Formats: sequence, structure tokens, C-alpha cells
Amino acid sequence: MSDMVEAFDLVIFGGTGDLSRRKLLPALFSGFAAGVVPEGSRILLTSRSGLEGPVDAWLKQIFAETEPACGQDEKALSDFAAMVQVIELGLVEGGKDWDNLTAILNAEPEHPIVHFLAIPPALFTSTCDLLGQYGLNGERARVVLEKPLGHSLKSARAINEDVGRTFGEEQTFRIDHYLGKEAVQNLLALRFSNILFEELWSGRTIDHIQITIAENQGVKGRAGFYEGTGALRDMVQNHLLQLLCLVAMEPPARLEADSIREEKLKVLKSLKPLDGQEIERNVVRAQYVAGAMQGEAVGGYAEDLNLEEPSNTETFVAIKAHIENWRWAGVPFYLRTGKRLPDRFAEIVIQFKNVPHSPHPAWGTNLSPNRFIIRLQPEDHLALRMMVKNHSAKGEALREVEMNLDVVDAGADAVRIGPYLRLILDTVAGDQSLFVHRDEVEHAWRWVDRIIDHWQDSGEPPLPYPAGTWGPYEAHDLMTHDKRQWFHEMGKRVQK
Ligand code: BG6
Repeated sequence: MSDMVEAFDLVIFGGTGDLSRRKLLPALFSGFAAGVVPEGSRILLTSRSGLEGPVDAWLKQIFAETEPACGQDEKALSDFAAMVQVIELGLVEGGKDWDNLTAILNAEPEHPIVHFLAIPPALFTSTCDLLGQYGLNGERARVVLEKPLGHSLKSARAINEDVGRTFGEEQTFRIDHYLGKEAVQNLLALRFSNILFEELWSGRTIDHIQITIAENQGVKGRAGFYEGTGALRDMVQNHLLQLLCLVAMEPPARLEADSIREEKLKVLKSLKPLDGQEIERNVVRAQYVAGAMQGEAVGGYAEDLNLEEPSNTETFVAIKAHIENWRWAGVPFYLRTGKRLPDRFAEIVIQFKNVPHSPHPAWGTNLSPNRFIIRLQPEDHLALRMMVKNHSAKGEALREVEMNLDVVDAGADAVRIGPYLRLILDTVAGDQSLFVHRDEVEHAWRWVDRIIDHWQDSGEPPLPYPAGTWGPYEAHDLMTHDKRQWFHEMGKRVQK
């Protein structure tokens, strides 16, 4: 988790593609403008066909489309553009282009090199083989693999083996950008630097935990990726299970990569595997159909991707999961994610148990359990909901209040570093604390594969839900069946 690094070379494979345009380049530009991407660094974007015009005009155009704030400062933009080169490069066979890339990288033998594979996993093997053949895998080189790593345990293993022939585990950085979010890192700080929470953090006091990543966007423009991937592989196998690990893991001996990753792995190994009937009962799978977002009609999944045939790909999943260990026995973890929901937010809600005994007859029916809410986006925020006496009323009148803990340190001039930049800088520094170990990826797939296999065997299509709603009724049912409720349905949205 290092902010200042030495000058480096970053090669983005798939450098003119979607991830690079939407996330990586805007993040790098903001880091450059804020002075955390050191001068002398070089950003090499590989592309099959190169660029038609100059790099600065292209950057200006993509920033206007993705991050309008980035294009405002002309001087910073042209200085940044001077760092960026686009290189034509095929990823299946070596040749002249690879000689060119090698010569460019060897011209700065002191620079750490980060090879960021922002390409489909099907190209990871050939790209890593070529990096090895051209000697671009030496000690100063690291490789970043974007999620999802493969589409099943089997394919993830094959990728890990293939990449492992060229790069050692200490050079391999499996990225999950949720781990780079400020609030996610804060979760570790909060849990392991305050006795207050840790003492209460178990099934003795906690009733259940909800983790939601809601998105209002659909999947337009992502046909190649999304169809056949779906929400379970795209969001649950990685982001949601990583959040679950950070919430549920035991305190690591040290806040270092190996200790953190070992503890997360133990959580994944303790996830109760779901089978047949349990999947039917505990997993809700759905796809959005035409609906309305903020009063405007919007199309369904099939229309967004121009599909002619109906598709079985899910855009919404809700799961009730259990962790089988001492700390969490009997505590359900409700995980949920979906596209085209009414709002965009990510939050973790820790719901505590009710008090064991209500000492006032009038309180009995009027007590809400305590809730601790960790909001990851759109803003970082923590809130604790508790019961207090109603001001100036008699002692039996209670009300629920929200104690807001503003975690953004407005006083400090600290540069706000977005998740991708944070993780790229950590890669340069060789710090793997916020990256996923191969064993974690494989155990997460093992758990998810059972669900996918069951869906495939059953042949049932996903349930429909209209765009602009909170998913199908069955997701609501998953909670009410247990006499619980999704936090957002209580109309108690956290106020910042
Ligand atoms: C990506 C998924 O990993 O995360 C996308 O592939 C999703 O489908 C995105 O939209 C969400 O990220 P964030 O940071 O915008 O919540």
C-alpha cells in the first residue's frame, strides 16, 4: 500500500480496449496530475491495429467520453500524452513488433515493468509465453491478471499453470479492483485496529450480514464479454466473495500479503458448499427485461446486446451463504448483485442480534437491532444505527438514530487514489497485500462451479425482473422467509 514509487514502465495489453479506456487511463492520468505517477515513467498501450491519429487527441476524446474531468487541464493532458505510446502488437505470435517492444523496454533497464493483461483470459497463455520468449519476465517484471480468471475452476487452474511457467507467484498480481477501494482497505483498519468492533464480531452478537453491489447500468456494449459470463462469474466469484472474506476472516498475524491471503483462504475453504435443493432454496438468479429507469423506458438484456435468441445469462444474483467455523456458525451471509437496479451503491450491513431482554414493557415492540453499515460507494461512509431515548419524552419512548462516522479525511491534503491506480502502484512496489492468491481464486471457483453446474443441469432460464426494480420477488423472499429484510427495503438509507 505504497504511494510513492520509482519511475516505471507499464505495458497495457489490450491498451486501447474497454478497461483501459474506461478505468486504467483515467486513473493513471489523475495519478499523474496529482504527482503520484513519477516523471520518466512510460505507458505502452498494445493494440492489434494501432491508432489512426496522434495519442493526445485520442486521449482527449476518450477522457471526454469516460471521465470528462480528466480532459480539462490541457497542459497536464499533453504532458501525460508524452508518456504514452501505442504499439502495434499481435498476442499470438512473436515477430518484429515484439522485437520493438523488447527494445523499448530494454532501453530503461532500471525501470520496474508491469505487464497489465487487460485482455480476455483466452489470450493470457500465449501472451505470457511470448513475454517469456522475449525475456520480458526477468526479476524487474510483474504481470497483472484482470478478473475473472477463467470461467471455471478447471480453466482458472490451467491459466495459473500456464502463467506460472513464465512468472513466479511473487511476480503474479491477480487484480480485483474492489480490494483497491478506499473503504475496503478501511475495513481492515477498522476491524483490526479497534477492539470495539472485533469483540462483537461473531455469531454470538451478529444476527446476519448483507453484502450488496447494486448497479444501475445495463450491459450495453459488452456483448463479447457479458454473454456467457453472467453476474455469478463477473461479480460473485471475485468482488462479493472477496468482500465476504475481509468481513469474515480472522485477524491476520501481520497486515502483510501472506498473512492476509492465508486468512482469506481459510474463509473460502469454510464456505458451506451448496448442492441441488439448497441451490434452489438459497440462490436467486435473474435477468433484466424492459423497464424504466428514472421514468425513462429502457430495453431488456436481450435488446441491450442485440440478441436474437433468448439467453440464459443472469444479470442478478442473490445468495444466502454460510461459513462453517466457530466464529460464524449459524450466521447467514446474504450476497446480492445486479445490473439495471434503481440505484448504484455497494454496502455491507452488519446486523446485530436483538437485546436478550427488554427491561421496559413498552420497549419490547419498539426496539430495532443495532446495525453497522459500511458503505463502499458511491462514497466511503460508516454508520452505526442505535436506539436512544426520544428527546424530552418519557423514558419509554425510544427512537433509532444513526451515528455517522465520516471516514474521508477532509483535513489532510492526501491525494485520493482510485482503486486501479492504487493497485498499479502496489504492483510497481511489489506489494501483494491487496491482490488475490491463486489458491483463493481456485477455492472461489470451486464454490461457484457447483452453482453454475446446477443451473446448467436444470436448464431453467433465469427469472425476469424489469429494469429499474430491485430484482425479482424471490430475492425479497430470500430474506422475508427468514423474517429478515434487505436494508435498503427498510427505507433507512444511510444519510451522509
Ligand atoms: C467489474 C465488472 O469487475 O466491476 C463490471 O466486470 C462491473 O460488470 C464493475 O460493472 C463494477 O465496478 P465498480 O467499481 O464500478 O463498482
